[in-house]
Amino acid sequence: MLEKFRFLTAGESHGKCLTAIIEGLPSGLEIDVDFINSELKRRQQGYGRGGRMQIETDTVEITSGVRFGKTIGSPLTLVIYNKDYENWQKIMSVNPEDETDEKSFTKYRPGHADYAGSVKYNHKDLRNILERSSARKTAIETAVGAVAKLFLKHYGISCRSNILQIGAGLSEEDFHSEIDKAKEAGDTLGGKFEVIFENLPVGLGSYVHWDRAIDGKIAQAVMSIPAVKSVSFGNGQHGYKIPGSKFHDEMFLENGKIIRKTNNAGGVEGGMTNGEDLVVKAVMKPIPTLRTPLNTVDSSNMTETTAHFERSDTCAVEACAVVAEARIACVIANEIMLVNPGDYI
Ligand SMILES: Cc1cc2nc3c(=O)[nH]c(=O)nc-3n(C[C@H](O)[C@H](O)[C@H](O)COP(=O)(O)O)c2cc1C
Repeated sequence: MLEKFRFLTAGESHGKCLTAIIEGLPSGLEIDVDFINSELKRRQQGYGRGGRMQIETDTVEITSGVRFGKTIGSPLTLVIYNKDYENWQKIMSVNPEDETDEKSFTKYRPGHADYAGSVKYNHKDLRNILERSSARKTAIETAVGAVAKLFLKHYGISCRSNILQIGAGLSEEDFHSEIDKAKEAGDTLGGKFEVIFENLPVGLGSYVHWDRAIDGKIAQAVMSIPAVKSVSFGNGQHGYKIPGSKFHDEMFLENGKIIRKTNNAGGVEGGMTNGEDLVVKAVMKPIPTLRTPLNTVDSSNMTETTAHFERSDTCAVEACAVVAEARIACVIANEIMLVNPGDYI
């Protein structure tokens, strides 16, 4: 789906490292490693995170594609080492002689990838699914997104995100008390957030084919973040109850320039950016690993039991919003490259 700004990631949650190879960047782009690391730090923060985030201090190492602080046009490789790997070396070993049952599990976690993943890839040990389905991989995606943001900065495009609701909480203070209550009960919470991109040119994306619509591309990029269950644009989620006379963003002239007084469309009309702020809203479901576990089935003997638990977040909505910023940045960087196909900056 990303035709020009392409990347692949690899790496398991407790493996040695997470890696990404990015292809398509023009040469001459300044790569600010401190900025990438500050984005990684943002992803690690947020009220309600689990113990893992205290172990890791994610920092990126660039092993190709950059010389003296600037891209040189070749593929860029990013690496984040997992500190926790020192405790998992044997369990995550690539060598057949190290095979062990330690940390294996067979009790599916409802809401996670365990059941469908075990059928799809024919795994008895659900560890084989957990390791890659874990949202740990969003760390390296955040690093890739930070590179995309550096590219967008060159075009004067910036972004931010806000948390809109967590459980019943509508303010920062309420978010914390909702998360505290859930944690105490061994439960988890999801929430709603928005991502806003400013200063986008008019006409990114297209109406001519369904797979070129920028809202479709962004929806795919955000919907595929682990635990995201709904994505909408502007006031789209309320579109069913607002008449056309109030929903559509009327156009006026100010000093010869077209202006709007509302942005219910969220900056996209006809699958294209319309020059208004891009406003993407998303809902993250509650974290599926619960300290008070749910009813499930043990795949080893097909008996009813309760689900596997291991160290987990209570709520990760703030981190999820940072990941969504990164994913959308990649989509927009790709669109900018499609309309400005230069090999150097
Ligand atoms: C930033 C972030 C952190 C997450 N942390 C956890 C976690 O600690 N424990 C957990 O069970 N799920 C966590 N999740 C959610 C699961 O990865 C996700 O629910 C699971 O992969 C199943 O995918 P699905 O919810 O999209 O169906 C996290 C998701 C994100 C985006």
